[in-house]
Amino acid sequence: MASSKQEIYRSLLPQIEALVQDEDDLVATMANVSSVLHESFGFWWTGFYRVIEKELVLGPFQGPIACTRIPYGKGVCGTAWQRNETIIVGNVHLFEGHIACSSASNSEIVVPVIRGDKVIAVLDIDSREYDTFDETDRHYLEQIAQLLAQ
Ligand code: SME
Repeated sequence: MASSKQEIYRSLLPQIEALVQDEDDLVATMANVSSVLHESFGFWWTGFYRVIEKELVLGPFQGPIACTRIPYGKGVCGTAWQRNETIIVGNVHLFEGHIACSSASNSEIVVPVIRGDKVIAVLDIDSREYDTFDETDRHYLEQIAQLLAQ
């Protein structure tokens, strides 16, 4: 029987905790975290953008090539950074200002990685299906983002 989304996240959390504990370099950890999530769920695109000065700069990811820089407040990623909160988009074509790095993406979740009171990066996941992400994804991906912010 196929595992539920919740079961998959639950089994990944200890793995991700170990990845975070074993490595000090944030970029290296982001690389493995994006791989673990991508491989486990079969998402279309899974990766990080890091806050560098006034924009988001592409970090470690899995999937097709993507836009390299996103300004503050732009797209789903820049908006999640600005609002300091997770954004779930069931249909990206209806999100005003959505940045289409790939025309195959139809839904998206962006989770800020917050250290102290500052967003230091965002975790962005894209799906080819509509309405892929829900409160279960938010719950577990926010826990993963918190681990990365330690
Ligand atoms: N769709 C994002 C841009 C990043 S790509 O999806 C990888 C956005 O609107 O911010």
